[in-house]
Formats: sequence, structure tokens, C-alpha cells
Amino acid sequence: MHRTRYFLALVHFFLSLASLIDSAPSDSPRDADIAQSGYVGGDHNIGPESLSRFQHLWNFTFKPDEKHYARPLVHTLASGKQIVFTASTENVVRTIDATTGEIMYERQVAPPWPMAGAYCETVSKNLGIMGTPVIYPEYDVAFFFVKSYIDARDYRVPGGANPPLNSVYYFYAVYLDGLGDVYKFPLFIDDVPADNDERKLFLGGLVLQRPSLLSVGDVVYAGFGGLCDAFNYTGTLVAININTRTINRWVTQGGPTSPWTSNWTKWHGGGAGGIWQSGMGLASDGHDVFFSIDNGGTTDTNASSIPVQGKSHQDILSESIARVSLNDSGVQLLDFFRPADYLSDAGQDIGSGGVSILDPMTFNTSAVPHIGVSTGRNAKVYVQNLDELGGYRTGANGTDTVLQTIHLRGEVFGGIGSYPLEGGYIYVNPGNASLVAYRFSASAGNGSTELFALAGTAETENTHWGGGGIPTVTSKNGDPGSGIVWVTDVQRGLLAYKAVPVDGKLVELALPKVDGAVRFGRPIFGDGKVYLFDGKGRLIALGASGNITAAA
Ligand SMILES: *[C@@H]1O[C@H](CO)[C@@H](O)[C@H](O)[C@H]1NC(C)=O
Ligand SMILES: *[C@@H]1O[C@H](CO)[C@@H](O)[C@H](O)[C@H]1NC(C)=O
Ligand SMILES: *[C@@H]1O[C@H](CO)[C@@H](O)[C@H](O)[C@H]1NC(C)=O
Ligand SMILES: *[C@@H]1O[C@H](CO)[C@@H](O)[C@H](O)[C@H]1NC(C)=O
Ligand SMILES: *[C@@H]1O[C@H](CO)[C@@H](O)[C@H](O)[C@H]1NC(C)=O
Ligand SMILES: *[C@@H]1O[C@H](CO)[C@@H](O)[C@H](O)[C@H]1NC(C)=O
Ligand SMILES: *[C@@H]1O[C@H](CO)[C@@H](O)[C@H](O)[C@H]1NC(C)=O
Ligand SMILES: *[C@@H]1O[C@H](CO)[C@@H](O)[C@H](O)[C@H]1NC(C)=O
Ligand SMILES: *[C@@H]1O[C@H](CO)[C@@H](O)[C@H](O)[C@H]1NC(C)=O
Ligand SMILES: *[C@@H]1O[C@H](CO)[C@@H](O)[C@H](O)[C@H]1NC(C)=O
Repeated sequence: MHRTRYFLALVHFFLSLASLIDSAPSDSPRDADIAQSGYVGGDHNIGPESLSRFQHLWNFTFKPDEKHYARPLVHTLASGKQIVFTASTENVVRTIDATTGEIMYERQVAPPWPMAGAYCETVSKNLGIMGTPVIYPEYDVAFFFVKSYIDARDYRVPGGANPPLNSVYYFYAVYLDGLGDVYKFPLFIDDVPADNDERKLFLGGLVLQRPSLLSVGDVVYAGFGGLCDAFNYTGTLVAININTRTINRWVTQGGPTSPWTSNWTKWHGGGAGGIWQSGMGLASDGHDVFFSIDNGGTTDTNASSIPVQGKSHQDILSESIARVSLNDSGVQLLDFFRPADYLSDAGQDIGSGGVSILDPMTFNTSAVPHIGVSTGRNAKVYVQNLDELGGYRTGANGTDTVLQTIHLRGEVFGGIGSYPLEGGYIYVNPGNASLVAYRFSASAGNGSTELFALAGTAETENTHWGGGGIPTVTSKNGDPGSGIVWVTDVQRGLLAYKAVPVDGKLVELALPKVDGAVRFGRPIFGDGKVYLFDGKGRLIALGASGNITAAA
């Protein structure tokens, strides 16, 4: 009797613990999801019915020179308080109370690099954090890359902070409660040769860390590409184990036949092949990493008209989708795809887009269990077998080996979004065209049936060529009819549509007006609220005011 009661009390204790965890507010510890499928799940407590009650909850104005290309992230501290974490081009990080919009902590982690030294000031006056950080919720810690310059006594060349050779990247880890440094961080990641080419020194001053960071287990992955497309850079994937602090660097153009020059000012002298993706995150299936590589030199081998198998060893990649894996010897290239027509696409790089790994529980065929989608400025969507990316010109008569090619009416910066419920949809938002939805076909892989068929188009066209956001999809507990596609627009602010099109139309849902949006934006969600940077650089919080707790 006593024993039973004790047992039940214990069960009750664990049940209440479980329900506590269940009812914890939803967070966004990274940009979208690890797979970059663009579906961020059903636990953010937002459905079409709550949108009618949406209003501006609060907004936060930053200092005049600050730009936020890194998206805000949402995290709940051990104390139970939910915060929004921001990181700017001035290297200022902040935590903001998600409920009130009040600042909690603010810290400039390092001076930003004066951008005039790069011969372009298109991004901001100074250059600091650009790539979206990643949070490890279990440690209450955020990780991010900081562009700054080396200590005055270590300057490599005269001229103070300005010369790019005196600029460097640091890898920071800060506690979200207080913004203090984690012991043994930041890491200095500069001045070390790439694993796959010892001639190629990683010089942070010559590159830009732009894609959102990816965390897979203990490893944080980051893509680096061109800085104003100047200098002798080579695109680099950096992988850092946050526990052992081991750093691996893999260049997209390595090996003895790859371009190299000691003249750091020489345009594309290192072969280029940057990892940019308009800021979209690198994607993972939980083990391997998928990303796109920008244009390289015109002398790239294996890029003429001769077919190249995707799984053959390649030293030099450009205009490609790559799949890599990290082992104890470093980053290993496993597979790649390069469009057959990349030479004639007038520089409309596939490198402006990212890779999305679709949810295999919905998007599969009997022949293809893992489907991915990539897109870019070449105005095409490639539906790919993730286990056979397709190499280069391996199809009949030198064509692409892909599952499907969808032709778009405009160029894409960033990538697609997806909705794995109600049959499955993907969404793409090309410039100078409309947001468009394609439905997954149940009889897919049949040979006579295309995997994705046009299902709906938004009525309003994007009035701009670049800067449109990446479609991001929510549902409310996965309930049918609750799917919403969110997309930012540099002029029209934040837009929302029903995920399932009706009669060939993507039905827009009314939202409070947001005054424009940051270029290549993506909203972030947390416990009934939506966050984004507007066209004036403010952080905006929208939500169903006064009813968030009641609804939860
Ligand atoms: C920003 O917040 C201020 C103060 O609460 C408010 O007056 C203003 O209307 C808000 N602006 C936007 C765009 O929501
Ligand atoms: C660029 O030039 C610098 C300075 O000589 C050199 O250390 C680096 O390895 C070069 N990088 C590439 C990719 O050519
Ligand atoms: C380095 O490259 C720049 C730009 O291509 C060129 O103007 C300069 O003469 C080169 N310097 C040397 C020492 O070759
Ligand atoms: C070119 O492709 C072949 C396989 O077709 C591969 O063996 C070779 O290593 C590649 N060359 C370079 C420079 O990557
Ligand atoms: C890592 O993978 C490469 C390519 O598959 C292989 O050659 C190498 O031996 C591996 N290294 C380790 C330590 O497993
Ligand atoms: C493949 O997708 C179908 C729905 O399209 C789903 O019923 C099935 O479980 C999926 N298969 C796997 C192995 O996830
Ligand atoms: C390949 O080219 C040949 C000769 O031009 C043509 O007969 C054939 O239909 C083509 N095959 C495909 C799949 O395009
Ligand atoms: C394949 O497609 C054909 C034509 O659309 C259709 O009649 C057939 O039922 C499909 N088979 C499967 C297995 O989906
Ligand atoms: C896109 O549309 C804008 C505004 O209508 C126009 O100025 C621009 O030339 C267009 N760009 C392209 C690439 O079509
Ligand atoms: C609060 O939410 C409930 C349930 O969603 C709804 O019935 C009620 O009208 C809402 N109240 C306000 C003030 O919005």
C-alpha cells in the first residue's frame, strides 16, 4: 500500500515534470531547422485564427550604424524567461526580454572591421557579425563568428585596422544569461592552412562569413565566401568541435592543380568558389552537410563538356551543390552536382541559393528515400536524389541527372520552404515574380508523373529582383488547415499565406503592416510571436496581444 502510493507519487512527479517540459515556450535556437526544409514545426502556437488577433507587440531600435543580417534567435533561459538574441554588423550582441521588448544585456564583443578597406561599402559602414548564430539550448550558450582585426602589436601590414590583411575572424561562445565569454573562447581561427591544401592560408580578412551557422552534435559548421568578391580568396567550410575546440578548414578549390597566388589582391587568384547562399543556412541530415558553391575561375578542370560522376574525387568545385562529411581526417567530399548549362547561364549562380533536405516521412518515392531541393539565381529549382546528387552532365546527351527541374520566372536568393503535411508542398519566392507553391505527387517516381506540380501562385508580384525572403512554414500542432507560409519582402514587410493553395491561388492572410524588411530575411518564431528586422533596421515583435498565456 505504502509502496504503491510512493510509486504513484513518483509517477505523478515525472508526469508533472513532463507536462512542464511540454508546456515550455517554443524557441528558435537556429535559423529555421537543421535540414533547412523551411518547416519549423507545429509548436509555436500560431495558426490562421490567431493571425486575426495579431498586432505589434513591441519594437527595438538599434544604433544608427548597426545592421542585422544575422537573424534574431529565441531562447528560454534556465530561469524560465524567454529572450530574443541579436547580433549586429557592429559586433554588438544583445538579449531582449521576449515579453516586454526591454533590453537585458548588451555587449560589443570586439571592434568591427572598417569596411572601406574592402573597396566596397555595400553591406554596412563596418563589418562584424553577418551569419546567423546558433544556440546550444542545453548550455544556454550562443556561438557565432566575429569579424574584427588583430591586436595593434601583431599587425601583419602597416596601416592600422584598415588593410584586409589585418582583419581576422574569431569564433565566439557567450552565455545567454549575461553575455559573458565561455571559458577558453573566443577561438582565433586565422592564419592556418586548409586541411586539403597547405598553400591556402585561412585569412579572415579576405572572406565573409554569411550563411547561417549549422550545429550537428558537437560540431558547428560555417561557410565562408567572397568579400565584395575581391582578393585571392577560396570558399571555405570551417568545422569547429565546441568541446575539443578542434578546427577543420576545407577549401572548395584545393589540391595541386587549384589556383593559388601569394598576391592577396589578385581578383579570384585563389579560385573563388565561395559559400554564400544569400545567408541561408547550411543543411544537414543529422550527419552530413549540404551546401552550394559559388562561381569559380574559368579554368576549372572537370567543368568542360565531359561528364563527371558525382561521387568521384574532386579537388576543384564551383557552381555546385556539395555533400560533405567530417571524420578524424577532416572534411571529406562525398558527392556533388553541377548544372550542365552553368557555362551559359550568364553568371546566374547556383551559389546564391541553399539546399533544403525535405522531410523523408512525406517526401519520398519507392526508389528515392531522401529528396532535396536546391535553387539559385539561374531561375531553376532542382529536385534531387540526396543519395545521388548527379555529378556533372551524367544524364543522356550530357544533361543533368536530377529528379525534376522546375523553371521559374525569376532568380532566387536563398532557397525554398516546405510543408510536409496535407500531402506535402514546396514554396519558392523568385525576384520580379510571385511566391509559388508546388504540390508533391503521391504517384511520384512513376516516370510519367512529375514529383512536384504547380499548385498555387500569390496574386501580388515581388516588385524587386533581389532581396526577397526565404519561405518559412509553421503549423499549429500539425493540425490540417493550420499551415502558414511566411515570407519577408523588402518593401511590403511580412506576408503570410495559407500553406495549402485554393483553386490555384496562395491565399494571403492579413497581418499588421511591417515597414519593409531586411534583404534576404526570414521570420523567427517563439511562443505565439513572430520576429523580424524591418526595412528601418528595427527588431519587430508581432503576436496576439494579451492572449498568449491564455492560448498556451
Ligand atoms: C514601436 O514602438 C513604439 C513605442 O512602443 C510605438 O510608438 C511605435 O508605433 C512602434 N512602431 C512600430 C512600427 O510598431
Ligand atoms: C592569398 O594570398 C595570401 C598572401 O600571400 C596567401 O597566404 C594565401 O595562401 C593566398 N590564398 C589563396 C587562396 O590563394
Ligand atoms: C597583384 O595583383 C594586382 C591585381 O591583380 C596587380 O595589380 C599587382 O600588380 C599584382 N602584384 C604583383 C607583385 O604581382
Ligand atoms: C576530375 O574528375 C575525375 C573523375 O572523373 C577525378 O578523378 C579527378 O580527380 C578530378 N580532377 C580534379 C582536379 O578534381
Ligand atoms: C576519412 O574519410 C576519407 C574518405 O573516405 C578516408 O580516406 C579516410 O581514411 C578517413 N579517415 C578516417 C580517420 O576515418
Ligand atoms: C514515404 O512517404 C509516404 C507518404 O508520402 C509515407 O506514408 C511513408 O511512411 C514514407 N516512407 C518513409 C520510409 O518514411
Ligand atoms: C540524344 O541525342 C540524340 C542525337 O541527337 C537523339 O537522337 C536523342 O533523342 C537524344 N536523347 C535525349 C534523351 O535527349
Ligand atoms: C503511374 O502513372 C499513370 C499515368 O498517370 C497512372 O495511370 C498509374 O496509376 C501510375 N502508377 C502508380 C503506381 O502510381
Ligand atoms: C525587376 O523589376 C524592377 C522593378 O519593376 C525592374 O526595375 C528591374 O529591371 C527588374 N529586374 C529584372 C532582372 O527583371
Ligand atoms: C483569447 O484566446 C481565446 C482562445 O483562442 C479566444 O477565444 C479569445 O477570444 C481571445 N481573447 C482575446 C482578448 O483576444
